[in-house]
Amino acid sequence: MRLREKLAGTFSPNELKMLYNSFDIVGDIAILRLPKALESRGEVIAEAVMQINKHVRTVLCQVGPVSGEHRLRELKWLLGEKKTETIHREHGCLFKVDLAKCYFSPRLLYERMRIARQVNPGEVIVNMFAGVGCFSIIIAKYSRARKIYSIDINPDAVKYMQANIVLNKVEDIIEAIEGDSKEVIISKLKGVADRVLMPLPEKAYEYLDYALMALKSAGGIIHYYDFEHAGKNEDPVAKVAEKVSRKLLSMKVNFNVTFARIVRTVGPRWYQIVLDIFITGKD
Ligand SMILES: C[S@@+](CC[C@H](N)C(=O)[O-])C[C@H]1O[C@@H](n2cnc3c(N)ncnc32)[C@H](O)[C@@H]1O
Repeated sequence: MRLREKLAGTFSPNELKMLYNSFDIVGDIAILRLPKALESRGEVIAEAVMQINKHVRTVLCQVGPVSGEHRLRELKWLLGEKKTETIHREHGCLFKVDLAKCYFSPRLLYERMRIARQVNPGEVIVNMFAGVGCFSIIIAKYSRARKIYSIDINPDAVKYMQANIVLNKVEDIIEAIEGDSKEVIISKLKGVADRVLMPLPEKAYEYLDYALMALKSAGGIIHYYDFEHAGKNEDPVAKVAEKVSRKLLSMKVNFNVTFARIVRTVGPRWYQIVLDIFITGKD
């Protein structure tokens, strides 16, 4: 049963129209967004969420956008256990996460598996913005990658990533590294990678040079994520592909965008885009 249906007898048609019908569930925590006019009804809405989703033990409200270097969201407790830590299960892997201290999105599950399925046996991978380790762990579990260097600048994310590496028994494949991926690559990961992941749309363009630096001299694959706006008659995927292509051409890099798609819609006419870029070498 959907939220609107559940609250049909309690809320007026106008209030029901304002209600966001979808929300994230991470482990046993539900995260809602409430329109201003319904903020005072948070507890009633949270109650309905818990009745529809019997495994939810805590309902939080996201009161601001994902922001800051660590990509965190401000959360307010609404109902149930007062906690922000949980364990989320995805593709048979377990991810322990504190939602107040680390970035986590359950919406990227298809994307994580899409990448894992491309990895060839023996590959060395650099994940430049690894968070609590979701992409890295799914890849370690579903491919025969040799080594995954998994970098994050948020010490809390790295702490949870280390716990998740143990929880999923991939200690021999993933190395968690705390730091700015730019500095980590310069100091210890130049020319090591067959594949580089850049799952931070806000910084990927600025950090593209360092992704190239991490790749082996023969080249490899970069999974590049970005946000793009698209007006009427505009294609956000083409806009990102053109922007990145211009930069790579100016750097005299030989490349081929082998795949591109909208990962998800993040706002009105705003999209998260992924490009898989096959780098074949530099002149
Ligand atoms: C959007 S999150 C993605 C996390 C993860 N890949 C996932 O899908 O759950 C981006 C992550 O990049 C980290 N970050 C931001 N700037 C960074 C930098 N310069 N170097 C390394 N990590 C960085 C943030 O702390 C955050 O955990």
